Amino acid sequence: MNKTFAILTTACLLVTSNTLLAADINNGKQLQQKHCMSCHDDSMYSREERRVNSLPALRTQVQRCESALGLKWFDEETDDVTAYLNQTFYHFK
Ligand code: HEC
Repeated sequence: MNKTFAILTTACLLVTSNTLLAADINNGKQLQQKHCMSCHDDSMYSREERRVNSLPALRTQVQRCESALGLKWFDEETDDVTAYLNQTFYHFK
């Protein structure tokens, strides 16, 4: 890995984690329980063959499922649910 790439990657990770630090985990939990359990329960997030393997990928997947439902969440709501799922199940740094 060259140095510029390393610095850029670190910068991106910092931006992402700062956004998620500001997120409201409890709101994310409530949104998830209200809207997201109709197709899959929590075991989807901890199954052995789970597909999501990074924080940005988790956010993308939350967004994908959310828009499939037609919920039209704000970015903040997507962030809250992503933060909740990450803290509870995924534990990405
Ligand atoms: C209409 C059905 C449906 C609803 C409702 C739904 N999902 Fe999903 N979700 C799926 C399916 C199907 C998969 C598995 C995709 C795959 O394995 O290719 C999935 C996978 C996921 C994953 C990835 C799990 C992994 O493998 O790591 C996440 C995260 C997720 N959903 C979040 C959500 C969230 C958040 C909501 C609520 C906004 C939600 N889902 C609502 C159908 C749904």
